[in-house]
Amino acid sequence: MGAILSIRGLRKSYGAFEALRGVSLDFCPGEFAVVVGPSGAGKSTLIRCINRMIDPSYGEIEFNGVRMDALRGSGLRRRRSMIGMIFQHYNLIGRTNVIKNVLHGRLGHMPFIKSLFGLYPASDRLRAMELLEEIGLSGQRYKRADALSGGQMQRVGICRALMQEPRLLLADEPIASLDPKSAEIVMDHLKRMTEQRGICCIVNLHQVDFARRYASRVIGVKSGLVVFDGRPDDFTEDIARFIYENGGDRDIAEETQIGPEPGGYPAGEHPGGPSKEAPTVYAEEYAAV
Ligand SMILES: Nc1ncnc2c1ncn2[C@@H]1O[C@H](COP(=O)(O)OP(=O)(O)O)[C@@H](O)[C@H]1O
Ligand SMILES: [Mg+2]
Repeated sequence: MGAILSIRGLRKSYGAFEALRGVSLDFCPGEFAVVVGPSGAGKSTLIRCINRMIDPSYGEIEFNGVRMDALRGSGLRRRRSMIGMIFQHYNLIGRTNVIKNVLHGRLGHMPFIKSLFGLYPASDRLRAMELLEEIGLSGQRYKRADALSGGQMQRVGICRALMQEPRLLLADEPIASLDPKSAEIVMDHLKRMTEQRGICCIVNLHQVDFARRYASRVIGVKSGLVVFDGRPDDFTEDIARFIYENGGDRDIAEETQIGPEPGGYPAGEHPGGPSKEAPTVYAEEYAAV
């Protein structure tokens, strides 16, 4: 299956500081990829570059056959409406009810004037109800969003993102503010609902246990580089320790040698999920930069 998202040589600098130092990844429809790494590794920067909340410094990002990095204005807005976002702090409108928050996912698909007055077609309202039913919140649909628990708010966030009928869903630390039980419920829904729809989902998490449990593919990021890309079973304790030790310290990796030869998926030959062979561990490449 062809990639829905291709990233080539992505670099992002904030002033003199390089937060991403050359990231190349391909993602296919239906993948549930979890990006792990310590605070400051560049996970959020990667997500923000993909949906162009920030501009990459170098590199190419092709989404659904179109170069995202070259888009501006309405072209960019149209592309972005095909990418769903889920945020750590939900980004709901607290004083607005649940169903209206879900309907907000349609705004990018509506003429401006209709969106101004919230004139959603009946088909959208029906779809919002169905999504809330599916995620177990239909009984809360007329409640104000700020009356919900954190886990419920994030489930509303998932419904709002799915209202966009996205081809790609990006979630930046979606469970970082939740207790373990609520986190599990949110991850269960997110995984099931995106898988059923064949949507590619990229989730930033710092919890390694959740990554192993839910991911179809784990991507380990350290100091702005991909240092692991493989199946959750191959994401061993040693690799996790390597990624998390010393946080974002860049010197430590030079003494660390893990896993097989560095490699990667040749351009255009991504197998549709992580390799069935050995995982790709980029320790040497990492150390060389
Ligand atoms: N707007 C910014 N200006 C300057 N530095 C930034 C900015 N955003 C992020 N950084 C830095 O870039 C690095 C990566 O940040 P981020 O992508 O947020 O990492 P993560 O999400 O993995 O914690 C960090 O060192 C962070 O301090
Ligand atoms: Mg972050």
